[in-house]
Amino acid sequence: MGVEVNPLSETDLDTADSIFRIAFGTFLELPDPKTAFGDSELFRTRYRARNTRVLAAHLDGTLVGSNVITRWGSVGWFGPLTILPAHWDRGIARALMDETEKIFDGWGVTHRGLFTFPQSPKHLALYAKYGYWPRYLTPIFARDLPALDGPTRRPTSARLYSETPATDRPAVLEAIRELGGTLYPGLDLTGDVDSLDRQRTGETVLLYDDSRLDGVATCHIGAGSEAGGGTTLMKFGAVSPGERRLERLQALLENIEALARLRGAPRVEAGVNLSHRESYRALLARGYRADFVGVVMQSPDEAAYHRPELDILDDWR
Ligand SMILES: CC(C)(COP(=O)(O)OP(=O)(O)OC[C@H]1O[C@@H](n2cnc3c(N)ncnc32)[C@H](O)[C@@H]1OP(=O)(O)O)[C@@H](O)C(=O)NCCC(=O)NCCS
Repeated sequence: MGVEVNPLSETDLDTADSIFRIAFGTFLELPDPKTAFGDSELFRTRYRARNTRVLAAHLDGTLVGSNVITRWGSVGWFGPLTILPAHWDRGIARALMDETEKIFDGWGVTHRGLFTFPQSPKHLALYAKYGYWPRYLTPIFARDLPALDGPTRRPTSARLYSETPATDRPAVLEAIRELGGTLYPGLDLTGDVDSLDRQRTGETVLLYDDSRLDGVATCHIGAGSEAGGGTTLMKFGAVSPGERRLERLQALLENIEALARLRGAPRVEAGVNLSHRESYRALLARGYRADFVGVVMQSPDEAAYHRPELDILDDWR
């Protein structure tokens, strides 16, 4: 029979989640690979999102690997791509990649990417075969917020999507699309906004200047989410470009940190593509430290929204 690639069925979800953990745990040489990612729920939550597709690879009828493909409007990215270690180096990832590229073609995305290990010759070569090229390093930053003396305050200047009345939501989603479009034509984060809200796995922070949306951040918060217990993970955060953009970035970070405290998840994580020089410096100055460094590979070999004049914190893990 050989390798077959199909959409992952709900009945295979638990096995696919455990293959994802074992594959990374083995690659990272953890003493007990299946414990990789702890209580973080990345696989099941992405499976249930509306802006994702999950592919499964079966070898002679047995599930041996999968890939999760996410759509942010005109931008598509994929991962985790994982194969059960006993079946590595037999072309199974290649089979999943062939189908992944077809999904991107069908979506008509203008830019595709992934986050991977810059030190791995195998990873770099695998993705290069599909036209992805390594560009900027992307450190994943974290900061354990210090305890406050006074009571925890709610975010000061920002609004929260979860508190937005249903009647106002279409306009807010449209404003998020507009802001995305100023960063890269067609960039649309509203699939993630909806997923966080519907699955109650996090929050979208909305920063306004009067009535104009000036910043947005999708945050996964706590156990049961991608972040895991005690952590607030910013998946995508950006402010509108132009004058005083760094002030807006600081305001966005302040609000995210206030939210992290309020929700009892005071470890804040954020990735920053090193093309965003000012965002990188701002995080360092605020006390964030890089946990580890990955590299983003992009197809075509172009910047898309990873440009120095933009302040964006994101990771394609
Ligand atoms: C990375 C991973 C998905 C690859 O899966 P796989 O099924 O072993 O990969 P494949 O056999 O399909 O493809 C590997 C390709 O890289 C090539 N390759 C491997 N090592 C190489 C090297 N040192 N230099 C150049 N090419 C290399 C292989 O030749 C093969 O290409 P080919 O089929 O054209 O010959 C798998 O090892 C895994 O699950 N790792 C742990 C989790 C992980 O790191 N996921 C990816 C995160 S971005």
